[in-house]
Amino acid sequence: MVMHHSRNSPTGSEPRYLASTAVLVVEALKLLVSLALATRDMRKSHPSSSWLEVLLHLRRSICASDSWKLVVPAALYTLQNSLVYAAISHLDAVTFQVTYQLKILTTVLFSILLLGTTITPRQWLALVLLTAGVAVVQVAGPLGSDSWKDRLTSLIQGDVSLSEGPTSGAVKGLVAVMAASLISGLTCVYFEKLVKDSLASVSLWTRNVQLSFFSLFPALFIGVIAKDGAAVARDGFFAGYNSVVWATIALQAFGGLVVAVCIVYAGNVAKNFAASFSIVVSYAATAIIFRTPLTLPATWGATLVLLAMYLYHTSSAKRTALLPTSEDE
Ligand code: C5P
Repeated sequence: MVMHHSRNSPTGSEPRYLASTAVLVVEALKLLVSLALATRDMRKSHPSSSWLEVLLHLRRSICASDSWKLVVPAALYTLQNSLVYAAISHLDAVTFQVTYQLKILTTVLFSILLLGTTITPRQWLALVLLTAGVAVVQVAGPLGSDSWKDRLTSLIQGDVSLSEGPTSGAVKGLVAVMAASLISGLTCVYFEKLVKDSLASVSLWTRNVQLSFFSLFPALFIGVIAKDGAAVARDGFFAGYNSVVWATIALQAFGGLVVAVCIVYAGNVAKNFAASFSIVVSYAATAIIFRTPLTLPATWGATLVLLAMYLYHTSSAKRTALLPTSEDE
């Protein structure tokens, strides 16, 4: 919502901020925080070393020979983050969120394809219920309750011109969010495997330093310079920045770091379940705090999400590699 507001609220005579600069600033911020946390971890694992030795250990770990493996997820995440900005500039917040839930299914698909994860029919049912439940909460919850019937009818009829922009913009937005969902599934599975395979020798935060470092290059050279170079030269790098833009950047950076922790310590499927559950919690919290009426469809949607969580996690099949194992815990 904050990001949608930052892209769509009037800016007066100021130019709108460039999404490419925000993507770069988010990566720079995550790099600094990850560097601080990696230093703390290194200090803990070498308690008797001096600060200089700790920093040398850290440099060796960050510049290790397998660091190039982070180039792929760095490029993909930068593309995903740019697509998210493009999508949210053309779609309303609800349509964006509903479509972005496709990542629940793409994550599972890539887990099967790349990791050989097996999903039982009961778990498939849970995943489909989860996707449907989150979509219903989004469409019929407080954000969309004023016109949820119109919105649903429009979605079913394929009329995607739900944003203030022209229909072609809405189609572009939909294509962007679908591509972002596909990339999200692929990249988080790749990142989970890479980090878990080497967690004993390379810490999560060192991996995140590498990820953010390699993300700076596509974000700077492709996004800021090649795509928006002329606008940056004309208006300046921080043109259009205001408190909402900085709030968006802070949320994106913090959210990204939380995603990293979820992927490694809970697993990708659990991360998506948590994100879906958070939508249900926000729905309930909004209803209680702002006294908005609970709509019947949204309550059904929330029930579906809870049922899906129960079905998935009580599946009789052996726990898959994507779920936390007792060793991970
Ligand atoms: O769950 P989803 O795919 O939407 O999350 C992706 C987001 O998390 C991206 O913005 C990505 O940059 C961020 N991320 C991160 N560090 C990781 C993994 C993801 O900052 N290790």
